[in-house]
Amino acid sequence: HREKDEEMEEPLESHVLVLPFPAQGHIKPLLCLAKVLATSGLRVTFLNTHHNHRRILPRDPCFSPSPLLCFESISDGLPDNHPRSLERLEELVLSIKTEMKAHLREFLLRKRVQFPVTCIIADGIMSIGIDVAEELGIPVISFRTYSACCLWTYLCIPTFILEGKLPFPDDDLDKEFHGLPGAEGLLRRRDLPSICRSKIDSKLYRYFIDENIAMTRACALIINTFDALEAPMLSHLAPIFSDVYTIGPLHALATQSNVGQFSGRSESVSSLWIEDRSCMVWLDSQAPRSVVYVSFGSLVKIAIDQLMEFWHGLVNCGRPFLWVLREDVILGEKEENVKSLLSELKVTSQTRCLVDWAPQEEVLAHPAIGGFLTHNGWNSTMESIAAGIPMICWPRIADQQINSRWVSEVWKIGLDMKDTCDRSTIDKMVNILMEDKKEEIMKSMARISALASDSIGPEGSSLRNLERLMENIRKIGR
Ligand code: UDX
Repeated sequence: HREKDEEMEEPLESHVLVLPFPAQGHIKPLLCLAKVLATSGLRVTFLNTHHNHRRILPRDPCFSPSPLLCFESISDGLPDNHPRSLERLEELVLSIKTEMKAHLREFLLRKRVQFPVTCIIADGIMSIGIDVAEELGIPVISFRTYSACCLWTYLCIPTFILEGKLPFPDDDLDKEFHGLPGAEGLLRRRDLPSICRSKIDSKLYRYFIDENIAMTRACALIINTFDALEAPMLSHLAPIFSDVYTIGPLHALATQSNVGQFSGRSESVSSLWIEDRSCMVWLDSQAPRSVVYVSFGSLVKIAIDQLMEFWHGLVNCGRPFLWVLREDVILGEKEENVKSLLSELKVTSQTRCLVDWAPQEEVLAHPAIGGFLTHNGWNSTMESIAAGIPMICWPRIADQQINSRWVSEVWKIGLDMKDTCDRSTIDKMVNILMEDKKEEIMKSMARISALASDSIGPEGSSLRNLERLMENIRKIGR
């Protein structure tokens, strides 16, 4: 390393370790940031779990988009054959807290001899990064992959519990929910993060609440949003964190810096699944703004009945659709039944195209796409905003419920079908989005999308914050 470093402009001592939570929706934005930092001359190590490292770099383990970006991995402590699925998330998070933490400490001590890490950027739900950094005296910055509105809600949950608002006193999810500063009159119980519907003494509940509190120990917060989108919510976060860097939409910032996609590779290195690019050819044959893109992200699973409601709703709405149906998307069915159903559905025709995994950013940027039926994971929401595509929201877990409320009621860039899933609603919503209310929703979307684009432009807040972040990382290193 040494010989190479002497020729580089960046002083030897800056070395950032980027530590994502081991899931697609976390790896993607943290890797975007890692790429941007490395392209700007900072040395970066991206630390995956062995399990995800093998999935991300299956063909060429030495591949790197930049000489300054290095991919390494440690064990998450689970056996190789563990499914690491949403249903068994508790085992994963407990293993992260104990086994993986010990591996992280060993890794950093090894690096200390070889190439000391001067700053850790830890995922907002990987407080093991904060614990070990504090132990070893390394500055740590927290990167929360959620929206500001969701982070603020999570931070208020302990107060809601003290005030007796959580758990909900009864089962009526349509009741208004009061008490979130800055959101008075906006929320029903069903709009709160999904965790609020579960028992407050569960291990997962504790994990997510504790992780959000732990984040406030970091020396700064990075968040993938932009000031013009979430100023009111960000104003609540500012007094809690020493410094806040809003750098969204990060995927667009990364693409702008020419590091979002890698030339010479057919699939993006930030995906745990291989992209099926045949859908791009199919999209080329469709009329402008005619296609509904459907995807529920990387974690959500659905029951077979729900899947069939979506199928009939989409067929009945009479518009062409492109649907991402992951192999593992169906809940609680025998593998052979799932396989045969999916192969029956996945027959491409002029009006429909179903794939295992799509190049989503490219799909959303395609002129044929007119609407996005989404689970409202925060990455998908930001990607939709950046591409200017209005949404139909079907949120399932975590932050998705609150994101969808903001999409429909605050930004007015989509329709929220939260907790309903029947063919007539799906059919109706698609037609409202793509016809009846098209102009109205497109107008709000065009405005918000332009703000997103401004935020990463030459004088934009996100670009300025990114530059400030890099400057501070360099200072920490000296
Ligand atoms: C979940 C959360 O809901 C999210 O808000 C949180 O920050 C991380 O965990 P996930 O289900 O993965 O995330 O959804 P999302 O945040 O939307 O991320 C999915 C990513 O996968 C997006 O960046 C999307 O572009 C990508 N994707 C999805 C593809 O590249 N191809 C696909 O076919 C589907």
